[in-house]
Amino acid sequence: MTQRENPPVFPCIFPACDNFSPKVAFKHHRLEFCTIFLSYSGRAMAEETFQKIGHFKETAAFIGRLAQIRPNLPCDSKVLSAAEGSPLAQPIDIGGFVVGNRWCVQPMEGWDGTTGGQPTEHTLRRWRHFGLSGCKLVWGGEAFAVQADGRANPNQLGIIDGDESRAEKGVVQLLRTLRDSHREKFGNADDLLVGLQLTHSGRFCRPRDKKQLEPKILYHHPLLDPKLGIEPDDDSVLISDDYIRALIDRYIRAAALAQRAGFGFVDLKHCHGYLGHEFLSARTRPGPFGGSLENRTRFVREIIQGIRAKCPGLRIAVRLSAFDYPPFKPDPARGGAGKLGPGIPENFTDFLPYRWGFGCNPDHPLEIDLTEPIALVRMLSNLDVRLLNISCGSPYYNPHLPRPASFPPSDGYQPPEDPLCGVARQIGVVRQLKQACPDSVFVGSGYSYLQEYLPQVAQAVVRAGSTDFVGVGRMILAYWDLPADTLAGNPLQTKRLCRTFSDCTTAPRNGLISGCYPLDDHYKNAAEHDELKEKKSELRKSLTVVPEK
Ligand SMILES: Cc1cc2nc3c(=O)[nH]c(=O)nc-3n(C[C@H](O)[C@H](O)[C@H](O)COP(=O)(O)O)c2cc1C
Ligand code: SF4
Repeated sequence: MTQRENPPVFPCIFPACDNFSPKVAFKHHRLEFCTIFLSYSGRAMAEETFQKIGHFKETAAFIGRLAQIRPNLPCDSKVLSAAEGSPLAQPIDIGGFVVGNRWCVQPMEGWDGTTGGQPTEHTLRRWRHFGLSGCKLVWGGEAFAVQADGRANPNQLGIIDGDESRAEKGVVQLLRTLRDSHREKFGNADDLLVGLQLTHSGRFCRPRDKKQLEPKILYHHPLLDPKLGIEPDDDSVLISDDYIRALIDRYIRAAALAQRAGFGFVDLKHCHGYLGHEFLSARTRPGPFGGSLENRTRFVREIIQGIRAKCPGLRIAVRLSAFDYPPFKPDPARGGAGKLGPGIPENFTDFLPYRWGFGCNPDHPLEIDLTEPIALVRMLSNLDVRLLNISCGSPYYNPHLPRPASFPPSDGYQPPEDPLCGVARQIGVVRQLKQACPDSVFVGSGYSYLQEYLPQVAQAVVRAGSTDFVGVGRMILAYWDLPADTLAGNPLQTKRLCRTFSDCTTAPRNGLISGCYPLDDHYKNAAEHDELKEKKSELRKSLTVVPEK
């Protein structure tokens, strides 16, 4: 890791950053400063244009732009193959299992299981691609609901109607498909570690109808409740402590299922606004699961204890949204012509100190504060949980944080910043966590936006020790064998690079299966392709409105 030679005299107020003086910090974070300033003043942020990644003519120009955004963000000028000693080809020991390289497939669900929670041909195809990717760590494949009412959509995989044997058959089939494809292409799968991501969708449950939210919340949220149509005095959606205790048992049951099915670890999902993540900010909830950090982490700690007792030998991991911002919305003054306006924060000034975030400063909630996330990572390490996958925010209410993109989903706001800032923010936070907790093993997220420069940045970040693994999400949907090509020293197939068109998010938001519609022939030729086109066109028309003054 590149350590600073001298400690900064004036550390930047953005803790993911290594800038030294307020002047330099302002230069490099003017967008964030603008956001804070304007959110207080209630005015819109000045329009900021940014250069698309494919338009950089050469690496030097791209590196120059990176240096403007975050001076210490490394990028190699040449991609190394495994034979040339790529840092991405190094094995790493995770709790006694040697994982073959530093590439990780991020979990990505396809909204394409059966209503009984089993895979379909689309799901199997995706998992086959995960195996062909060349990544030696596969994080969960996709979110797996531990019980039916906790599904994010009626086609999510999971244990439905309490039918464990049906659920187990489904995941056994997926795991076998993945391992077989990996073995066929790479000769063996002995150094491939695959986990299953266990989830309950909490505030974002849609278990029976893709369009019908059936939220299960821990506390009333002054900004999210109105966005989701939850009345501030409707306590029927609050889950009880008894519900939580029964749910802990369901997680333990699902972990036992994963172990029987042959998974190497389970992830207790704590990210993206789903229930696990919501526990971490449940400061206003009374009782044993809210208030202090100790209470807010009781849920995860009790699941860990239960899994240890019931599933000896099963590794446990956590995917964590390590920082958050208040919800964003499209700027109503700058929408129109088929597009929503750029994102601006909801007005949170009436709710200060802001007690509904995790990893953000309650007095200035657009500022990252890693005090509690670091305490959590240390707490997990003391429980022998040292495999962490770091994400942030939520794709539902501040999508530019976890999924930096040039083109938002068609119901989403335009980028409020150069998406490279979003990539750099995530890399910077993982670096800080790794520095604070060097014994834990970290997977970083949000790399797909880097496109042709993904391998160059990935390789440099791993070499610097700023992360242990580079996680790839959307890029795997579009160009699943990019890691394999990189390690083999093959040139990148630029036509297959994910350009962050967001159709893999727009489709499920419109009730369709998820996949890379623009670049993957399987979806290009599917009946859903035309349906998606039609839905996008309808949305565009509905957004062609005169902007509010
Ligand atoms: C279609 C789609 C489905 C996703 N499903 C999940 C999921 O099931 N679990 C999860 O933790 N993250 C999920 N994510 C988030 C990704 O794992 C990843 O964090 C995000 O796409 C940013 O990484 P990237 O820039 O490499 O795409 C999903 C993302 C997409 C685009
Ligand atoms: S639809 Fe394809 S190109 Fe667009 S973001 Fe998803 S994976 Fe990338």
